Amino acid sequence: MNSISADPHRRGLLTTAATLGIAPWLLSACAQTASAPPSTAAKPAAAFRRLGPLQVFPIGLGVQWHPGSAPQGVVDLYSSSTTRQGGIALIRRAADLGVTLFDTAEVYGPFMSEELLGESLQGSRRDRVVISTKFGFPVDQATGRRLGGVNSRPEYIRQAVEGQLRRLRTDRIDLLYQHRVDPQVPIEDVVGTIKDLIRQGKVLHYGMSEPGLQTVRRAHKEHPVAAIQNEYSMLYRGPEAEVLSLCEELGIGFVPWSPLGMGFLAGTVSANSRFEQPDFRASVPRFAPAVLPANMALANLVKTWSARKNVTPAQLSLAWLTAQKPWIVPIPGTTNVAHLEQNVAAASIAFSAAELKELNAAVAAIPIQGARLSPAVLSATGVEATPRR
Ligand SMILES: NC(=O)c1ccc[n+]([C@@H]2O[C@H](COP(=O)([O-])OP(=O)(O)OC[C@H]3O[C@@H](n4cnc5c(N)ncnc54)[C@H](OP(=O)(O)O)[C@@H]3O)[C@@H](O)[C@H]2O)c1
Repeated sequence: MNSISADPHRRGLLTTAATLGIAPWLLSACAQTASAPPSTAAKPAAAFRRLGPLQVFPIGLGVQWHPGSAPQGVVDLYSSSTTRQGGIALIRRAADLGVTLFDTAEVYGPFMSEELLGESLQGSRRDRVVISTKFGFPVDQATGRRLGGVNSRPEYIRQAVEGQLRRLRTDRIDLLYQHRVDPQVPIEDVVGTIKDLIRQGKVLHYGMSEPGLQTVRRAHKEHPVAAIQNEYSMLYRGPEAEVLSLCEELGIGFVPWSPLGMGFLAGTVSANSRFEQPDFRASVPRFAPAVLPANMALANLVKTWSARKNVTPAQLSLAWLTAQKPWIVPIPGTTNVAHLEQNVAAASIAFSAAELKELNAAVAAIPIQGARLSPAVLSATGVEATPRR
């Protein structure tokens, strides 16, 4: 059970929340403290977190995989790879270690990541996990070809969800994100469509990724937003300006994507690293040869602190994120089971208030050079949807 919707007090809670005009999970959060649902799986000792209406293990798993050139090959967005069987084993290992939040998208592959997640979690693991996926970067449903641009038209959302349920081998999507705001479609129409899907039981909760903040407020008025998924890490602290306070105000959970700074914060990048397509970092200004040596100051800080805390750089970076707010749940991506195990163990790492103050000040003192994404990719972030006429 990972959702308040499965809580025995659900009906009373929903009625009271509706009467008060607030999100049901705000009421529930006051009524109970988050605790791990009972399960026979061995779980690391870390309290579950609230992510809006959901209760999840503090570290999730990002599954953003694409077909590799080798037969049965699977590659991530960078330079890591595995096989289909290796990917399935990794997802199952994550679930068996106690990870509950699994993140993917229609466009990852396209389709391949959802297919592998569905195959991995089908059966006894399904009811112990929260499957989150996304629509909005349109894909030809017949061929799996990316169509370009964004599309959140109601007919596209409905069509995408049918394919997602099939590929994920499930009857419901626990958390369905709009991958990027479609400026042409009023957000009220998007949320209205999602509300229909919720009524049909095909979707349980919804979220938004890299949205404009006025659009979040409009969406939340139509139906409570469960989670916002934006880039956030020691390498990119943009959400601290406005997004995190909006989440706090509205009771929305926050899911940092690229929580390891695309590998940089895990200590896998050096001043001499050079990235070539298809490694996504080839198009990312902050990894360009001209700025990388200066930016290494942050990777070196992370290494120093990880030695001080006797953890790995990846663990230090994930623990820093979970220390920022109790409703933040990062979703590191990995193709490597040893890395997965390290990342999961980061859920038990804590900082004293003094440590956190010192680390935050040290991170703030390092200006990162170069944008977090290419101009084209960046232009789809922070977008506001057209008003409803
Ligand atoms: N909403 C959005 O627009 C959006 C955008 C991007 C990503 N995402 C989501 O966020 C998830 C994670 O983001 P991401 O994959 O871009 O970046 P990330 O999690 O910051 O970094 C992933 C990279 O770190 C390496 N890594 C992971 N754990 C490690 C460890 N313990 N030690 C050393 N290296 C480690 C991985 O390589 P190995 O495979 O070798 O471990 C991989 O190359 C994605 O899977 C996706 O679900 C969402």
